[in-house]
Amino acid sequence: MEFIVETKKLTKRFGNEYAVADIALQIPKGEIYGFLGPNGAGKTTTIRMLLGLMRPTNGSISIFGKDLKKDRIDILKKVGSLVENPSYYPHLTAKENLETLRKIYGVSKNRIDEVLDIVRLKDVADKKVKGFSLGMKQRLGIAASLLHNPELLILDEPTNGLDPSGIIEIRNLIKRLPTEFGMTILISSHLLSEIDQIATSVGVISKGQLIFQDSIEAIRKLAQQKISLKLDDSEKAWRFLLSKGIKADVQNSRLLLFDQKDKDIAKIVKMLVDNDFLIYRVEEEKQSLEDTFLQMTTEEKVI
Ligand SMILES: Nc1ncnc2c1ncn2[C@@H]1O[C@H](COP(=O)(O)OP(=O)(O)OP(=O)(O)O)[C@@H](O)[C@H]1O
Ligand SMILES: [Mg+2]
Repeated sequence: MEFIVETKKLTKRFGNEYAVADIALQIPKGEIYGFLGPNGAGKTTTIRMLLGLMRPTNGSISIFGKDLKKDRIDILKKVGSLVENPSYYPHLTAKENLETLRKIYGVSKNRIDEVLDIVRLKDVADKKVKGFSLGMKQRLGIAASLLHNPELLILDEPTNGLDPSGIIEIRNLIKRLPTEFGMTILISSHLLSEIDQIATSVGVISKGQLIFQDSIEAIRKLAQQKISLKLDDSEKAWRFLLSKGIKADVQNSRLLLFDQKDKDIAKIVKMLVDNDFLIYRVEEEKQSLEDTFLQMTTEEKVI
């Protein structure tokens, strides 16, 4: 698989505190990579390092297959970003604000109309930014990040502080970018629901550590696959299964089976019945994605 961003042992220490510890991000081409973690987990610090705004304490960053340390300028030419609240000239119009940036990038004038069109701000192009809602300002920020037609777009919590309709607007906008323009996107959020609705790939960061990284389907699967058995003697059944090489767990006097295919569940149940265990219930424990995320980020467990 081709990774647009790949970090190895990426680490940032502030004094004695590790804000980011040893992380190995792998962002596949054309994906919307949701970078998920609670407040203070290390998302912004990681993003700042990816954008060359902060020097790592340790580790390497490769973007487009090049080393950020060696080919910084070449790489950053093809990266767009929106980190924290962007600042604008409030007394200038949307178009005029973009014009100041256009000159820096040296892109053609008609690109301004193009990006305003992409973020659906064409109608208010000649309105002063001071009258813009937060959602409009965020969209203008994305327009600015798209000016130089980047191949990689890095957005740090772009929906922070927006109301539900503002969030939906940004979400729909971001979703179009990989398919229409072949972009790869890194979007951070502390809200699982947000990432769940937009991302195709997910990385979960907690206390500076990347504790999960896979496709969104994989995280959904992780949330579901738990079968709970209520039986006469869970402890004994657990030992019995263990002796057969089947891993299980006992919680609240229930026997829990993880990662088993349907036909294996049937086999295990039959095995227990054949060995005189009394089974009262076989249920799927519906753990929500939210619970899975919470569990991941509160337990120190590495998955
Ligand atoms: N410049 C700095 N100096 C010292 N500590 C810092 C600095 N920047 C970040 N930190 C610390 O690093 C840790 C990670 O912070 P970071 O801003 O990366 O988290 P985050 O995941 O972006 O959180 P949030 O969701 O609140 O934006 C925090 O403990 C923070 O206090
Ligand atoms: Mg942050």
